[in-house]
Amino acid sequence: CGIVGYIGFEDASTFMLDGLSKLEYRGYDSAGIAVLGPDNVIKVQKKVGRLANLEGVVKADPNPGFMGIGHTRWATHGRPSDMNAHPHTDAKGLFAVVHNGIVENYLPIKEELLKKGYEFKSETDTEVVAHLLADMYDGDFEGTVRRMLDRIEGSYSLVIMCADDPSRIICTKQDNPLVIGLGKGENFIASDIPAIINHTRDTYILNDGEVAIVTKDSVSVSDRAGNPINKKVFHVTWNAEAAEKGGFEHFMLKEIYEQPKAIRDTLTGRISKDNKEVIYEELGWEPADVASIDRILITACGTAYHAGLVAKYYIEQLARIPVEVDIASEYRYRNPLTDKNTLAIVISQSGETSDTLAALKEAKRLGARSLAVTNVVGSSISREADQVIYTWAGPEIAVASTKAYTTQLVALLLLAVYLGQLNGKLDASLREQILTDLHELPNLCNEIFESVDDIKAFARNYGFREDAFFLGRSIDYAVAMEGSLKLKEISYIHAEAYAGGELKHGTLALIEEGVPVIALATQDDVREKMMSNVKEVKARDAVVIGLGLAGDTELEKYVDHTIFVPRADKYAAPILAVVPLQLLAYYAAITRGADVDKPRNLAKSVTVE
Ligand code: G6P
Repeated sequence: CGIVGYIGFEDASTFMLDGLSKLEYRGYDSAGIAVLGPDNVIKVQKKVGRLANLEGVVKADPNPGFMGIGHTRWATHGRPSDMNAHPHTDAKGLFAVVHNGIVENYLPIKEELLKKGYEFKSETDTEVVAHLLADMYDGDFEGTVRRMLDRIEGSYSLVIMCADDPSRIICTKQDNPLVIGLGKGENFIASDIPAIINHTRDTYILNDGEVAIVTKDSVSVSDRAGNPINKKVFHVTWNAEAAEKGGFEHFMLKEIYEQPKAIRDTLTGRISKDNKEVIYEELGWEPADVASIDRILITACGTAYHAGLVAKYYIEQLARIPVEVDIASEYRYRNPLTDKNTLAIVISQSGETSDTLAALKEAKRLGARSLAVTNVVGSSISREADQVIYTWAGPEIAVASTKAYTTQLVALLLLAVYLGQLNGKLDASLREQILTDLHELPNLCNEIFESVDDIKAFARNYGFREDAFFLGRSIDYAVAMEGSLKLKEISYIHAEAYAGGELKHGTLALIEEGVPVIALATQDDVREKMMSNVKEVKARDAVVIGLGLAGDTELEKYVDHTIFVPRADKYAAPILAVVPLQLLAYYAAITRGADVDKPRNLAKSVTVE
């Protein structure tokens, strides 16, 4: 989502519509603004669809005013619609709120407010904030916001306006970005720098827990308790294009670095406090719902298909249900054996891939129950499937998928645990172990970025080669396939992934002196076998980069170079292992001068067959 806010002497709507248009690259499904107009009345205008729709509404019914907040929405809770678009207000129109992120505990708060007689107009978690503020309001805007913040949990950036207090906008953030642009006689608020860069380059970048009181002439920042904080001005030197990428050179790199947050968001609210259970509220299955599943079919395309291959291991190991994985375009034409006892899972970042949608329709036609794992609320696939699990990766712009893949793995691992918990096939202690470890995943992912220089060096050294081979066994094999796809799609290096044991049946003929082989070794149970495969390629003078778990000193003896990811259990390890492979592909593409975000011949979302 994108946020803007304005207080000053210009027309607030004009600034906000322009600012929101600068956030278009984030992708969105609806947009809205709230402006404090004449007589201190807050007027909200919002519209589903592209920004042009909202512009039409505002043009037809202008609302002059010098203070406003605006939002473009990337749907999370609640489908894209006029009502679910932000800003949200309370019944009296006293407060208007825009929000990025997720209010985790919105359900209990909503129930409490419903009991008190508050009526909700939308399905969003954000609307509770507006009603909660109204419920707690005692005439003191700032004090009420601070007390409200003690009630909500989750990740958010929040910008709030109060009709009773026309001189200021209050904003705060937790795990989501928010910047204040400093002007003269006017100040700007935005989730992202591109929205304000045409107006000012002097900004305060808010940190988690900070509260900013923004008037037209001043910005004061304090901590939650109200202790003042002396902010340093951050002067933005990026041009507009760099600003869109958050200072990263490419969207792909930005998205690789967004993975810790995307993983955290995908886990949010889905693990019980005691780490003993998966809570998939959106599924709400009972043991009988799982008992009726004879087999699971997973179909998808590209990277999402590779996520399906990992999910097969997850589900078969943890829930002991047979899983077949098929490429969507193959499945639809093979007269498949799917019936009412099949659970058909389709995985799609965009939710629009034509082959995947067709496979879903085919599985449904044959009587299967269907479940979509997708990143886009309201997408065609999400509407077609019986049930949906969303990955909360946020918009993914680079053609090569990164954060969508890792969040798909997280969502599917949770699903495997959920299935095992419901059919009793998964031991309670292993369940608790996996779920406890999952919380660590975002931090472990961050640690990988510390060794980025080594990865850059490998990419420089091997980036000029025409071929590369990826080897793995068990889950590592599935990850090897994704690593190889990443490399070929953006660097145009011919890359192949092989199951370690299959090498001798053909591919070994291609291994010769100096050929780079990336050998994945994160899975203990097949480790020895993997080491024999490494020896096989070493004997043919390949250059082997071993990708293993930290502390694996033995791996170092077998290979020429090592990349280590932090130690994690066998299910979480692949989610970490793919990150260096993404970086390797990225830097190899850079070395070769390729167009990383828009590789030749490829599209982000393939909506034709
Ligand atoms: C395209 C993209 C891939 C993506 C695939 C499936 O080919 O270039 O990166 O994995 O489509 O897309 P989906 O949106 O269904 O996950």
